[in-house]
Amino acid sequence: MNKLITILASCCIATSVWASEAKLETVKVGLDVPTVERGVGVMMDSCHSCHSMKYIKYRDLVTFGIDKQKVDAWRGDQPLDATLLAQMSDSDAMAAYGKAPPDLSLMAKARDGGASYVYSYLLGYYVKPDGMPGNHLYPETKMPDILGMSGATDAAQRTEIQSKARDIVSFLAWAADPEEQERHRLGYYVLAYLFVLTFLLYLVKNQIWARLK
Ligand code: HEC
Repeated sequence: MNKLITILASCCIATSVWASEAKLETVKVGLDVPTVERGVGVMMDSCHSCHSMKYIKYRDLVTFGIDKQKVDAWRGDQPLDATLLAQMSDSDAMAAYGKAPPDLSLMAKARDGGASYVYSYLLGYYVKPDGMPGNHLYPETKMPDILGMSGATDAAQRTEIQSKARDIVSFLAWAADPEEQERHRLGYYVLAYLFVLTFLLYLVKNQIWARLK
């Protein structure tokens, strides 16, 4: 009997995990400069007050190709080599929200579902029947509805919030692996090199065999 209960319980757990995964809205991130730049803008306006990105420096943004003047405006009097530290201290955040906002540098890789998880989390806010805010993906979250999804009443507002969420998630995806594009480029060079090398070896082989025949 006990065994049966355990099996039934594990089925329930498995289906509820599956059910929460099913709520993920898939997002296709953009790793181009304009999209990432808009994403940094959203980060600075809407997330930076609470969240740090301790592995990203202002200089990294300039190196990636983001407008230097914008980066200068974001960093104010901090040096280019400063990292993106939250404006609010962890202890103030603890006092206000009961939980310290996690660092966002690697967030796009930290959760199952990656970028789509963060996207769905930001868009997952709604108003519960008792009038309190809820989140479909993370029901007990202490983070307020930052992008205002729960208060969005018409389609145009929702579309605007969705595109903001896509921009910030694109930036987070870039930040979690800034060298990804470079690696892909390098991969093509390596393939081209191997191709040329194979061709040359083939010519050499033909020459040697021609002599031996
Ligand atoms: C007012 C402070 C505040 C702001 C502004 C804020 N957050 Fe948060 N955020 C929090 C807190 C607090 C948590 C911890 C929530 C928890 O685990 O209950 C959190 C958690 C998160 C998490 C992790 C969720 C998880 O699965 O653990 C992500 C991702 C996140 N925030 C993204 C963002 C993004 C993106 C923005 C900007 C659009 C943003 N936050 C703005 C306070 C904030």
